[in-house]
Amino acid sequence: MEQDKPAKPERGVSKRVEQVLVFCMLVVLVATIGVVVWQTSKLNIGGDNNSKQPSEHKIHWPLTAGNLEIDNDYTLRLLNSQSKALKFSAALADLAASNVRPTPCNGTEWNYNICVEWSGKERLTVNTSAYFVPRDGSALTCYEVTAKALGCSNQVIQHCFNTSIAHWYGGYADKFQYWPFENNTRRLSVYVVNDSYVGDIGGVIERYFVASTGAGVLLDHDVPLYYSLNHPKQGLMCFVAKFDKYPYFNIDSELPVLKYKICESDNLKDVHMKMANALIDKPQGIPDKSLFKYPIWSTWAQYKKNINQSTVMEFANAILQHIFSHAQIEIDDDWTPRY
Ligand SMILES: *[C@@H]1O[C@H](CO)[C@@H](O)[C@H](O)[C@H]1NC(C)=O
Ligand SMILES: *[C@@H]1O[C@H](CO)[C@@H](O)[C@H](O)[C@H]1NC(C)=O
Ligand SMILES: *[C@@H]1O[C@H](CO)[C@@H](O)[C@H](O)[C@H]1NC(C)=O
Ligand SMILES: *[C@@H]1O[C@H](CO)[C@@H](O)[C@H](O)[C@H]1NC(C)=O
Ligand SMILES: *[C@@H]1O[C@H](CO)[C@@H](O)[C@H](O)[C@H]1NC(C)=O
Ligand SMILES: *[C@@H]1O[C@H](CO)[C@@H](O)[C@H](O)[C@H]1NC(C)=O
Ligand SMILES: *[C@@H]1O[C@H](CO)[C@@H](O)[C@H](O)[C@H]1NC(C)=O
Repeated sequence: MEQDKPAKPERGVSKRVEQVLVFCMLVVLVATIGVVVWQTSKLNIGGDNNSKQPSEHKIHWPLTAGNLEIDNDYTLRLLNSQSKALKFSAALADLAASNVRPTPCNGTEWNYNICVEWSGKERLTVNTSAYFVPRDGSALTCYEVTAKALGCSNQVIQHCFNTSIAHWYGGYADKFQYWPFENNTRRLSVYVVNDSYVGDIGGVIERYFVASTGAGVLLDHDVPLYYSLNHPKQGLMCFVAKFDKYPYFNIDSELPVLKYKICESDNLKDVHMKMANALIDKPQGIPDKSLFKYPIWSTWAQYKKNINQSTVMEFANAILQHIFSHAQIEIDDDWTPRY
């Protein structure tokens, strides 16, 4: 009995310990199940972002504006209005490389055919517009494409046109001019005039390209434009908007915008004639006709680099004395980057 007595309270204590332990285990179990359910529900939302979004924030791919469409592979395509054949395609290359998900632009202030936003990164808008062609009174259908950076001024916006779908023409003077155009190669270069003999873009340049399938691209003059062709990747002609130290200074820390018009017509000649007439300014007058009619005399043939005021005057007097026809005198002392 002496031994039993202390045993009873002992058993009583262990029973209470057991109850506490069971209670604690239940608490832990319930908490664990709670956390699991909570995490799972979070994962469900995460794994199913699109369907959980309110319907007004859903994007219905492809986005379309007339014959232009943008699909969820971030490729912009222009289709022939009748045959639906591809006129060209272009990759929204900077977005394809990013993992930010797009949402439609909110609100009515965005009155565009297409407006989609990659939050904090970029907003892309497309609007159709019809231009009057003064030459023949016809209409030209174009799409205004604007890709605006939303993050910071050193963002790079890049649209790369696939050159294996159409032949492209236009652009700039280059030292080697392969035909077709898409056989040329150019590493990413600032799209400004320079010296083609040292491998840069040459002295004649337009922000204008036309495709054999009957489409044209005209880039806005205020885009801080860079350009590459078949470099580093074959088959792509890339238009890039970015600011840098030189020559596109950005003292106001503006966000770069890549902005261009895509225009369409039945064939290359037609789209070129219409774009040239409706969108590209013509000279207002003509220079003195003798500039086209009579020879340009260059000092180079006779004097090479050894020219000065007296040799130029001597040369001009000799032309007059021999009664040669003349319009301009060109002073050529070889190339120098100083002027
Ligand atoms: C869903 O959205 C959340 C928050 O925006 C994001 O962290 C998550 O990665 C997204 N899930 C998927 C599958 O895209
Ligand atoms: C649109 O509005 C919703 C809700 O107000 C917001 O969550 C979303 O980020 C907005 N999207 C854009 C692109 O502004
Ligand atoms: C886009 O085009 C529509 C007509 O197609 C026009 O009403 C609207 O104002 C245009 N939006 C902008 C921002 O120019
Ligand atoms: C142009 O490129 C095509 C395809 O790569 C090639 O077959 C052709 O020889 C090239 N032409 C020239 C002039 O380089
Ligand atoms: C023009 O070419 C010269 C010589 O290659 C180079 O030093 C200069 O930076 C170029 N200018 C631009 C704007 O690229
Ligand atoms: C260009 O388009 C063709 C045909 O759609 C495709 O086979 C090719 O992979 C594309 N090229 C690039 C560089 O994306
Ligand atoms: C101009 O160049 C010619 C030929 O090199 C030379 O004879 C003449 O002295 C030079 N005149 C002047 C003013 O430098």
